[in-house]
Amino acid sequence: AHQAPDILSSTFAADPYAAYRIMRDEFPLIWHEPMQSYLISRYEDVERAFREPVFTSDNYDWQLEPVHGRTILQMSGREHSVRRALVAPAFRGRTLDEQFLPVIERNARELIDGFRASGSADLVADFATRFPVNVIADMLGLDKSDFEKFHGWYTSIIAFLGNLSQDAEVAEAGLRTREEFAAYMLPIIRERRENPGGDLLSTLCRAEVEGTRMSDEDIKAFCSLLLAAGGETTDKAIASIFKNLLAHPEQLSAVRADRGLIPRAFAETLRYSPPVHMIMRQPSEDVTLSGGVVPAGSTITCLIGAANRDGQRYADPETFDIFREDLATTTAFSAAADHLAFALGRHFCVGALLAKAEVEAGVGQLLDAMPDLRLQEGFTPAEQGVFTRGPDALPVEFTPAV
Ligand code: HEM
Repeated sequence: AHQAPDILSSTFAADPYAAYRIMRDEFPLIWHEPMQSYLISRYEDVERAFREPVFTSDNYDWQLEPVHGRTILQMSGREHSVRRALVAPAFRGRTLDEQFLPVIERNARELIDGFRASGSADLVADFATRFPVNVIADMLGLDKSDFEKFHGWYTSIIAFLGNLSQDAEVAEAGLRTREEFAAYMLPIIRERRENPGGDLLSTLCRAEVEGTRMSDEDIKAFCSLLLAAGGETTDKAIASIFKNLLAHPEQLSAVRADRGLIPRAFAETLRYSPPVHMIMRQPSEDVTLSGGVVPAGSTITCLIGAANRDGQRYADPETFDIFREDLATTTAFSAAADHLAFALGRHFCVGALLAKAEVEAGVGQLLDAMPDLRLQEGFTPAEQGVFTRGPDALPVEFTPAV
């Protein structure tokens, strides 16, 4: 018999997947006193928490409001559906394909051109961290040379959200970020209302659904969410794809030979090593989950990394296999996705198709530029983080392509 794992412990941080196994098997429902939250780890429970409307996102308000202001993540019901409809069209269909795909491809090229001739790079610092932020900044029509600012802001927002042990400095930095971001964005938003262009910010200024439009404050909050939700996550996803493929050379060769396999490598990476590990929900009535009853109004932390390796759902769940048959890659980017890395249901990631487009362009171009990609001699990749998780460095070498 084991003890219930503590997700604030260093053992957990070193290998959450070992703890997740114990949780799924023996402690599917844990009350975590310091976090004031229930922890759930089984696929069937997490899936229900995402899909069933009784599990609200109300408890995000106190968590997200201080850093972002009010965003669609905290909303439910009609408020959520109208507000989501204001922003969602920009991230799919023709707008994505015709307006933003060229932006994505150009940004991948620009970064790769910075190191392709040198024969070495850190795929995290030189590419994965910069690429999604540059893309969002470019989409919004912001100045990409402010990368250091954007990166600093979203890093402190993510630290604030993942501040499970309630460190005072981390909390203060998060609050300061909200002020700094507002001081940066609000004048740009006002200016863009006066002089609209073809960028996403101008689109958000104009957007109208059922008579509702976004205020300057709404747009600022959404941009703040975009930076954090679209930067940190895609960063981790791209780094993790390479970490996983480098650890499985035969799968790397297969993807190199057939770029059509990139979506599979992406979907399997999201299952096996999801960028976001913890998502909160709050039941509006008492609910019965594996392991007992969770009272109305309490906080539930859904452990995505645990659910995604549930043996009840996936065969051989601890194996990274882009060819697995039980991963519905064809539907992985609709609300019917089966791995839980993008959540499911009403809050299913708005940026999923954008993320997929970024990964296809970024990974494809990197493979072209690095014909014999290998990890730097003697380097063993490690993962960092418990709220979001991914490799913090991935130094690689390659023969520069001509
Ligand atoms: C929602 C993960 C990329 C924007 C979510 C949620 C997850 C998630 C788990 C649900 C949160 C919840 O229910 O509480 C990811 C992952 C990504 C990714 C793993 C990359 C691999 C992006 C990108 C953008 C984005 C590129 C946009 C630029 C959003 C937004 C929401 C969201 C706006 C809120 C949707 C709502 O509340 O209705 N994402 N995301 N994400 N994501 Fe993503």
